[in-house]
Amino acid sequence: MSRVLVTSALPYINGIKHLGNLVGSMLPADVYARFMRARGHEVAFVCATDEHGTPAELAAAAAGQEVAAYCAEQHEVQRAACEGFGLSFDVFGRSSSAQNRALTQHFAKTLEENGYIEERSERQVYSPQDGRFLPDRYVEGTCPNCGFERARGDQCDNCGKLLDPVDLIDPYSAISGSKDVELRETKHLYLLQSKLEPEVRAWVDAHPDWPQLTRSIAYKWLDEGLRDRAITRDLSWGIPVAYDGAVREGFEDKVFYVWFDAPIAYIAATQELDPEGWERWWRTDQGADETRYVQFMGKDNVAFHTVSFPATLLGSQEPWKTVDTLKSLNWLTWYGGKFSTSQNRGVFMDQALEIMPADAWRWYLMANAPESDDTAFTLEAFQAAVNKDLADVLGNLVNRVTRFASSRFDGVVPEGGQAGDTEEALFAEIDKRLPAYTEHLERMEFRKAFAELRAIWAAGNEYLQAAAPWTAFKEDKARAAASVRTGLNLIRLIAELSAPVIPFTAAAMLKIFGPDADQAWPEGRARDLLDRLEPGRAFEAPAVLFRKIEDDQLAEWAERFGAP
Ligand code: MF3
Ligand code: ZN
Repeated sequence: MSRVLVTSALPYINGIKHLGNLVGSMLPADVYARFMRARGHEVAFVCATDEHGTPAELAAAAAGQEVAAYCAEQHEVQRAACEGFGLSFDVFGRSSSAQNRALTQHFAKTLEENGYIEERSERQVYSPQDGRFLPDRYVEGTCPNCGFERARGDQCDNCGKLLDPVDLIDPYSAISGSKDVELRETKHLYLLQSKLEPEVRAWVDAHPDWPQLTRSIAYKWLDEGLRDRAITRDLSWGIPVAYDGAVREGFEDKVFYVWFDAPIAYIAATQELDPEGWERWWRTDQGADETRYVQFMGKDNVAFHTVSFPATLLGSQEPWKTVDTLKSLNWLTWYGGKFSTSQNRGVFMDQALEIMPADAWRWYLMANAPESDDTAFTLEAFQAAVNKDLADVLGNLVNRVTRFASSRFDGVVPEGGQAGDTEEALFAEIDKRLPAYTEHLERMEFRKAFAELRAIWAAGNEYLQAAAPWTAFKEDKARAAASVRTGLNLIRLIAELSAPVIPFTAAAMLKIFGPDADQAWPEGRARDLLDRLEPGRAFEAPAVLFRKIEDDQLAEWAERFGAP
C-alpha cells in the first residue's frame, strides 16, 4: 500500500459545469481515485472551485450579487452537483480560502526573495466609464489583419491571429461598450520564468514516461523560451498583493492573477482536508517523497501544469511535491460543436441528474472518454449505451440470476453441483480479461478498460445463456445449483469490478448479499473469485437496476438541450 494524491483541475466558479467539463477532469479523476482506494492505497482526492478572476466578477455583477456572496452560493451549487454525480472528493475546497491566501502570498514572497519576481511598469487599456483596467479579452475592436469588427484584444476569432489590445483599431470596452478607452501606465509583479527555464526543463526531462501529448506541450513552451509573466492584475476580487499582512505599496487595487493562485489551491485544499497531516502529501521532507501524485485535466490546462505551476514550486527552492503522472483529456463536444449556456446547447450537470441517474452518465462518458481525440456527445449514443450495455447486458444478468435463484432456491446461495465445461469456459475468459482490465485502469486508459469491463458483463450473460439453469433445473438440479451459485458469485465480482465507474449500481448489487460484502479489488483466479459466497447465505433480489430510455424521451431531450 502506498499514498496516492489525486487532483482534478479546479472548475471555474462561474456557472454549473457541462458534461464536457465533467469528463475532462473531475470524473476520470474520481474513477481513478476509487480504483486506487479499492487497491488498498491511502488516497487524498482533492478538488476545489477556482473562484478568482474577471469572469467571476462579471458573473456576480450580472447576477446582481456581491462577488463573495455569489461565489459562496455557486460553490454550494457545484458541490451538490458533484455529490449527485458521486464524485468522491476527500475535500472540495475553495481557492478563495484563507489557506490559499496565505500560501499564495508565501509563494510570491519566497519567489521574490529568490530573485524570481520583479516589479515592472507597463501600459494597459483603461476604461474610465468602467472605472477599471480591461483584461485583454475584454477589449474589443477591429482586427488589423482581417477587418473583423469584433476581434478580442488577445485574439481575433475570425482570422485566428494572436493580438495585443494596442493593435486593435477603434477599441472599445467589451464590458460597457464604452469607446472612451485609453492606455495608462500600471505596475505589475512579473514571475521571471525565463530565469527558471533550466530548472523546469530539467524537471520535465526527468519525466520521460509522460504521455506524448503532455510532453510535446511542455517542450513546445520550453523550446519557444519561457516568457516572464505578470502574476498580478488590476482587480478588486482576488488575493491581495501583501506579504506578512502588509499590502505592497502601489498594489492597493491589485490582486494576484487567478492562474497564479489556482493551482496553489491544490495544496490549500489539502490543508483544509487535513490541517495537521497535509505535509505528508505535499512536502518531500515530510513523507511526500513516498506519495505518488497524479493530476487530471483538459488539454488546455497542460501548459499551466507542466510549466507554470512547476515554475512556482521549483522557484520557491522549498521541498514541494511535484506531479508524477499527468492525465490530460481532449474535448467532449456537443454533436461536434460547443456546449453553450447562453445558446442553450448541451446538458449541464444539474440538468443531467434531473433526467437520468448518475451512473448512466458516468458509464457513457467514461466508456467514450475523449482520450486520443475530441469526441462528440450525442443523445442517440447515450441512449444506446444505457439501453444496451447497462439495461440489456448488465441489468439483465443481475435480474435473471437473482429472480431465478429466488424462485427456485428460496433466496439462498444454492449448495451442491460442481463446475463443469461451461464454468471452465467462463473462468478462462475472466482470467484473461480481469488482468487486462486492471492493467488499463492502472495506466488510466479508460476506453480500453471499459471495453474490457463491458466484455466481462457480456461474458456473464453468455455464460448464463449457455448454462441455462432454468432448463437444467428439470433434469439435473445439482447442475442448476452450480450455475446459479456461479451466477450469484459473478454478480458480486462484477459489482466489485464496476464500482469505480458505476458506484451507485455497484453498491446496489453488493447489497444483494447483505451489508458486509467487502470491497477490495478482486485478485486471484476466477475459479476462486467465483466461489466466495458460502452456500446457504441469504440474498435479496434487487429492484430493476436500469430503466431504458424510450424514443419519445429522447425526442423531448433533443428539443430541450438543443440537439441539432
Ligand atoms: N479553472 C481552470 C479551468 O477550468 C482550471 C484550473 S486548474 C488549477 O480551465 F490548477 F489551476 F487549479
Ligand atoms: Zn482578424
